[in-house]
Amino acid sequence: MKVLAIETSCDETAAAVVEGGGTNSFVRVLSDEVVSSLPLHVQTKGIVPEVAAREQLKSIIPIIDETIKKAGVEFDDIDGIVVTRGPGLIGSLLIGVETAKTLSKTINKPLLPVNHLMAHLFSNWIGKENDLPSFPALGMIVSGGHTDIVYFESINKYSWIGGTRDDAAGECFDKCARILLDAPYPGGPAISEASKKIGGKKMEKILPRPMIHDKSLEMSFSGLKTAVLNETKKSNLDKNRKNVLAFDLQRAIVEVLISKLSLALDKNEVKSILVGGGVVANDYFRKHLKLLEKKRDIPVFIPEIKYCSDNAAMVGATAVVLNTKELDVNQFFADPSLRL
Ligand code: KG4
Ligand code: ZN
Repeated sequence: MKVLAIETSCDETAAAVVEGGGTNSFVRVLSDEVVSSLPLHVQTKGIVPEVAAREQLKSIIPIIDETIKKAGVEFDDIDGIVVTRGPGLIGSLLIGVETAKTLSKTINKPLLPVNHLMAHLFSNWIGKENDLPSFPALGMIVSGGHTDIVYFESINKYSWIGGTRDDAAGECFDKCARILLDAPYPGGPAISEASKKIGGKKMEKILPRPMIHDKSLEMSFSGLKTAVLNETKKSNLDKNRKNVLAFDLQRAIVEVLISKLSLALDKNEVKSILVGGGVVANDYFRKHLKLLEKKRDIPVFIPEIKYCSDNAAMVGATAVVLNTKELDVNQFFADPSLRL
């Protein structure tokens, strides 16, 4: 099955052509294009939804054209149009969904809807020829808007078993980067860079590790913002102290994520763990996921850095792996608050 996939849930306009053969097959990417309106949001230090939507509109047709060209295919070769239905910013989602609907009608190809959160987990099928996850499995999505843990009984039967009560881990990185380093969105890379200046030095814990001893799979990251803000009000906030706080923030978030994943493993017998989402690009988190893999002797599937942040290849991968059913164009709408 060969599909054209479209992803427009936030500030990225992305399209990809991917092919794969169902649940036991890896996914091959024939072309994969992304443009982002991020530079336009630097001044506002956060994404302005209307600005993002307007940029989506400008970029969507050129990016689809480019993707089709680079894949070396014609619309006739495509078996379906896959699109992110939600969750995300409504203005941005609408551009992708309405373009996909129009294209589906024009070229007479099935329209296949995908949940953006699931797509982050299915990025683990991209390019991994002899190395696919086994089920039952645990999935952890750690992105700018979501922090969720799901239990997969099988590849297409899952349930939500835990997540954050308030802010997502990515949002915590973003807001704290703004408070601490005056860094624009996305703040995760800025915190990671500042942390590297501290390196492996032994360091006392400064910030709280919210809910780390709680026996549930719930998390909470909003209190960390206040804790960081309070630390910045203390007098000795020089460059080194900022780096120390960035390092401790990254460590606090990763410790909570790893301990909740470990707790989920205690509660559920599984054969693999899948992670996905922008925060998975964080190298400290990746290192600790590898340590967890070793300690618990269970394979942890981590997407290539390129497929951690929003992209269309993961959206296409989800549809080809799950054999997503076609949806009637007239029954299909963007859903900004779509759940898992
Ligand atoms: O999955 P994603 O690209 O978009 C959403 O679906 O939300 O995730 C974006 C999030 C942002 O919060 C960003 O700060 C975070 O991923 N992120 C990182 C890193 N790179 C991106 N967080 C920590 N360390 C990173 N290196
Ligand atoms: Zn995402």
